[in-house]
Amino acid sequence: MVNYRGSSHFRTSVTSKFFSRTPSPYKITLYITFLFAFSIFTFLFYTRDALENEQKPLLSEESQSQEMTDETLWSAPFSHGLHPCVKPTARYKASQGWDRYITVRSNGGLNQMRTGISDMVAVAHVMNATLVIPQLDKRSFWRDSSTFSDIFDELHFITTLQGDVRVVRQLPKELESVPRVRKHFTSWSGMSYYEEMTRLWKDHQVIHVAKSDSRLANNDLPLDIQRLRCRALYHALRFSPLIEDLGKKLVERLRSNGGRYIALHLRYEKDMLSFTGCTYGLTDAESEELRIMRENTNHWKMKKINSTEQRMGGLCPLTPKEVGIFLQALGYPSSTLIYIAAGEIYGGNTHLSELTSRFPNLVFKETVATQEELEAFSKHASQTAALDYIISIESDVFIPSYSGNMARAVEGHRRFLGHRKTITPDRKGLVQVFDKLENGEIKEGSSLSYLVMKMHKYRQGAPRKRGGSLPGIKGRARFRTEESFYENPYPECICGSKRNFEMTQR
Ligand SMILES: *[C@@H]1O[C@H](CO)[C@@H](O)[C@H](O)[C@H]1NC(C)=O
Ligand SMILES: *[C@@H]1O[C@H](CO)[C@@H](O)[C@H](O)[C@H]1NC(C)=O
Repeated sequence: MVNYRGSSHFRTSVTSKFFSRTPSPYKITLYITFLFAFSIFTFLFYTRDALENEQKPLLSEESQSQEMTDETLWSAPFSHGLHPCVKPTARYKASQGWDRYITVRSNGGLNQMRTGISDMVAVAHVMNATLVIPQLDKRSFWRDSSTFSDIFDELHFITTLQGDVRVVRQLPKELESVPRVRKHFTSWSGMSYYEEMTRLWKDHQVIHVAKSDSRLANNDLPLDIQRLRCRALYHALRFSPLIEDLGKKLVERLRSNGGRYIALHLRYEKDMLSFTGCTYGLTDAESEELRIMRENTNHWKMKKINSTEQRMGGLCPLTPKEVGIFLQALGYPSSTLIYIAAGEIYGGNTHLSELTSRFPNLVFKETVATQEELEAFSKHASQTAALDYIISIESDVFIPSYSGNMARAVEGHRRFLGHRKTITPDRKGLVQVFDKLENGEIKEGSSLSYLVMKMHKYRQGAPRKRGGSLPGIKGRARFRTEESFYENPYPECICGSKRNFEMTQR
């Protein structure tokens, strides 16, 4: 109101000044005609522009190929001034629990165990205890008999953590027969829970932790505890020299042919498809095989799964064919070197061929390494997974086809090391695009490319703070929806300026 009155007042005063000297009717007509012509011109000018924008795709074929420079395809997102920061604060002290011991049975696959062990280092610190080198899972789907020192550099682990937690190889002889208290720590517990647990020391000298996955909260822990988790995972838990050496060698080999490569975590493996109930694109016989496997796996609680609904919800790993369409839409040329970081692809070549037809330069550890080199690792799924991990960390671009423990761990580690490019497919959005493609509503080419690129503009691993729980979820269930600490250790273990460092202290 005020504005309107003001401007009309302004207009009156200007026009009255204009007309004051020569108020002839001829001039008024001329003026009005001019105004009218000018508005018509302006109107036409803008409408033309708007219409043009609607008709032409925002990214034409030409502008697209120009934009798909090496820079957009390969370079890390902008993260100027950010760096890893894992040093403890001035008030930090090592724990001293010389006569109290925590033993751990770590559960899950390689990456679930790695993050679990790092959490147990932090728990031992909070509970003021000595940590005994954890036992690894030998019963999981992967059935790997490897011990801690087969996979990790044990001595390095112990010495790196000297200023944090005392770590020993074994329980002292005199404690081996002492009754231990077995604990299933509550998932995603915070400081007060573990401080309260120290009451167990009154009656026991040894606590046995039966499971190590997700026992520690992602958020609201002291900065020093969060940084200890990073020191444990990124510094102390180094792979054994045998694995590290072969990993480095394979990375060098991948780089020698043309330089750059994508590490694709193609989680199109039997266990994953069976567990998620995703049978899209599979034969009836294959679907049945997966259903039977699920039926027979006791610890998978979901038995009846509607594959269509799973897929629409973005809960299925992308199929090899979908990955091919996705990579092509992102602009990667068919000559791109792609390392498949995964175990056995379900159905082998029958499904994989739909990706190789688009990207023939597809390699596996079996093609990059010699048979002799892999010999020591055969039948040790965790050790070959460690090779995949190293190659994925060092890749120019990392793309997980599904969000599992490995995908999260690799993404977080790449963020930590300088926000290396990780493209996380928006599976829910992509499924809609793929279905339109299937129905013939859109075609492969520039318009598909435009859609897919727009969808993934902010999914390339650029710096951002770790996400909290989803809104509207109450109680402990909200912890499950939080972004995992190890998926994005920013801000605690990634710092910018000094000011940023202070802000992150809680
Ligand atoms: C940690 O344990 C040692 C003995 O093992 C004890 O002297 C010390 O007071 C404990 N510290 C805390 C903070 O409980
Ligand atoms: C699975 O879900 C879809 C979509 O909600 C539905 O159309 C279909 O009938 C369901 N299939 C079965 C076997 O229940």
